[in-house]
Amino acid sequence: MSLLNRVQQLPKGFVWGAATAAYQTEGSTKVAGKGKTMWDDYLVAQGRFLPDPASDFYNRYEEDIRLSAEHGLNAIRVSIAWTRIFPNGDDAEPLAEGVKHYHELFACCKKYGVEPYVSLHHFDSPAALFNQGDWLNRKTVDAYVRYAEFCFREFREVKNWFTINELISLSHSQYIQGNFPPNHHFDVTSGIQSQHNELVAHARAVNLYKDLDETEHLGGRIGMVNVLTPAYPATDSPADQHAADLYNAFYTDFIMDGAFLGHYSARTLSLINEILRANNATLTVEDSDMEELAKAAPRNDMFGLNYYQSAFIAAYDGESTNSFNGTGDKGTSCFKFKGVGQQVDMPGIPTTDWDWLIYPQGLYDTLKHISATYPNLPVIYITENGLGHKDPEPDANGIVADPERIDFVDQHMEKVLQARAEGVDVQGYFIWSLQDQFSWANGYNKRYGLFYIDFDTQKRYIKQSALWYKELADTMADAQ
Ligand code: NOJ
Repeated sequence: MSLLNRVQQLPKGFVWGAATAAYQTEGSTKVAGKGKTMWDDYLVAQGRFLPDPASDFYNRYEEDIRLSAEHGLNAIRVSIAWTRIFPNGDDAEPLAEGVKHYHELFACCKKYGVEPYVSLHHFDSPAALFNQGDWLNRKTVDAYVRYAEFCFREFREVKNWFTINELISLSHSQYIQGNFPPNHHFDVTSGIQSQHNELVAHARAVNLYKDLDETEHLGGRIGMVNVLTPAYPATDSPADQHAADLYNAFYTDFIMDGAFLGHYSARTLSLINEILRANNATLTVEDSDMEELAKAAPRNDMFGLNYYQSAFIAAYDGESTNSFNGTGDKGTSCFKFKGVGQQVDMPGIPTTDWDWLIYPQGLYDTLKHISATYPNLPVIYITENGLGHKDPEPDANGIVADPERIDFVDQHMEKVLQARAEGVDVQGYFIWSLQDQFSWANGYNKRYGLFYIDFDTQKRYIKQSALWYKELADTMADAQ
């Protein structure tokens, strides 16, 4: 059955959205007292590309939200830039202009009937906290909870909150792969500790929201967004199977256990300890952490699943090395993680322009796996899925041809609907991304948007994928 036919079966209220993040879209990083994030000085020092003006969403959000509504979207993911509210992360007073800006953004969403799903943290830690150790320093956790409390009380019009976006990507990119500041390579102690500390921050924010809700009737929902990249054994040998188990423990199970079991299972801990031993690494857990996780686990209202790719893993005995540069000319087999395994190329499985394996089956398997493994798992939203691509320029009619993106989303949506038909409670889909935006490691030539942006003029152009996405939305709406 074609996707167009299948979407007719989706219930009223199915969320049909697109995702953005503050630092990748807003630009205007130096206005209205905004504080620096961990990226500002780093990007200048690196000298490859800058975050301004990005998609100029700070000034043009109304145009983008109007375009969203016109193309059938009923929801948008945005994030609040922590440093527009508290420039140093833990200032005594919030910045009035930043607060006003987000009230106006949410009012605009309301005006166009596009529901905001709001993340509090999307890779943009305040520089002042980052310089003191970022999430490795408990001070960041405390400051984050104060910032979260302020937002929960102030932005009552927001009914859907996400605590932290993709904490695994953040810790992996900061401390294992080393392509996000502070650029540590295979610093396993920091990699696992930042995962744990961010989980504690997530749990404290969930508990806070739920406690406040009892007395102050906030009336919304809260959850986390994480990316899952399932690892499959490269062969059916026991050694490769074990390597895939180790990889899944480090990149998936530790976080899913912490968030949705409220403790780390004996199996996960045993695999994690094996990785820690191989790397002379340690994890420090404070007494109150596990109580906080246990209390929060059943209180999550939703899980935001981001999915882009899968990994095929073989056993590996050597030292850690990573020459993966994501530029499309290296294949995927450049990541070798001591005590875990090595990623291998899989001939026959297509890749994106940035060497990410295109494997929709991984999304289906993941949905089935997490719903079977975590009895407390709340409803699921696909909060990101999409194709980073070197799109062509607009044609003479101002339309951008991106059939590859349509194909990618079509294949992945099919898997979502298949899992849904088999009982997995997926209640929405957000394509990454709404408009072309700044990409953390690749600047401006990695395009994901439904809407093309000419970054010199900031003019928006419609991509074929946006027209196709609208057709799906209209078909869905007509059937309801
Ligand atoms: C996940 C992140 O949330 C987002 O910031 C990023 O740009 C996309 N993946 C694409 O890599």
